[in-house]
Amino acid sequence: MSSSIYSYVVLFFFISIVPNIQSQPIAPAPTTESSPMINLTAILESGHQFTTFIRLLNTTQVGFQVSVQLNSSDQGMTIFAPTDNAFNNLKPGTLNGLTYQQQIQLMLYHIIPKYYSLSDLLLASNPIRTQATGHEGGVYGLNFTGQAQNNQVNVSTGVVETRINNALRQQFPLAVYVVDKVLLPEELFGTKTTPTGAPSPKSTPSSTSDADSPAVDDDEHKSSGSSAKMTSLGVILGFALFCYLI
Ligand SMILES: *[C@@H]1O[C@H](CO)[C@@H](O)[C@H](O)[C@H]1NC(C)=O
Ligand SMILES: *[C@@H]1O[C@H](CO)[C@@H](O)[C@H](O)[C@H]1NC(C)=O
Ligand SMILES: *[C@@H]1O[C@H](CO)[C@@H](O)[C@H](O)[C@H]1NC(C)=O
Ligand SMILES: *[C@@H]1O[C@H](CO)[C@@H](O)[C@H](O)[C@H]1NC(C)=O
Ligand SMILES: *[C@@H]1O[C@H](CO)[C@@H](O)[C@H](O)[C@H]1NC(C)=O
Repeated sequence: MSSSIYSYVVLFFFISIVPNIQSQPIAPAPTTESSPMINLTAILESGHQFTTFIRLLNTTQVGFQVSVQLNSSDQGMTIFAPTDNAFNNLKPGTLNGLTYQQQIQLMLYHIIPKYYSLSDLLLASNPIRTQATGHEGGVYGLNFTGQAQNNQVNVSTGVVETRINNALRQQFPLAVYVVDKVLLPEELFGTKTTPTGAPSPKSTPSSTSDADSPAVDDDEHKSSGSSAKMTSLGVILGFALFCYLI
């Protein structure tokens, strides 16, 4: 009598408790928990001098891509925000001379798919790849030089070089640095290529985030899959013990 109560108790233990214990290290800490939605537009608006950049992020839909990627990537992100002055100082027709796809490339070039503090930028080896890197085999890299101790960091594209000024935000997962020049990539503005020379390519602007998102999804499937396995293992173990005790 008492032994059968005991086995029921043990069965209950294995079915209800064990799967929970097993799955606990897997179930919590989803990537979303650590990153409450960051509103890039709001951060830029607080700087009061980024209307052109905000508009371009919107028209190219790169801004939307950024928010999706910030939500799903654990690498974080670094963004260089040119001021309105920087855009005004471009040669007339520079932006309009670009195809829509090239405008997307230009925006992606201002984004590094990894969080860097100012001093980390100097420690990484040049050139640092950007969100535009790899498009049509282009490097689309940024070079950083300067001294960490007095926070003087320059960014160079090969076409333009400028000081990185203050940070609108420098806190994982997002750093936003102010630059006084639009970062013109060599691939679009170098002497070798002309902005209008290349035919409009067809690849999507979100190729990098597309590559990232499925990876995250895979992880989620894997973890839910393994916790399901743990649950059935607990049930099987419990049932085996139940049979054994009876
Ligand atoms: C982000 O902030 C802007 C400006 O403050 C606001 O218009 C927009 O609705 C916000 N977006 C989200 C998704 O909260
Ligand atoms: C962003 O673009 C959409 C159209 O794609 C437009 O409806 C919306 O008003 C724009 N938002 C801002 C803040 O410019
Ligand atoms: C953020 O990601 C989670 C899942 O990873 C999703 O449920 C949520 O809708 C995402 N939020 C946005 C605004 O994309
Ligand atoms: C960036 O740095 C790399 C490595 O030092 C160098 O090979 C390359 O020429 C540099 N590019 C520019 C545009 O300064
Ligand atoms: C940084 O760039 C500025 C031009 O914006 C230049 O005058 C300065 O010499 C550069 N500093 C370094 C350390 O390269």
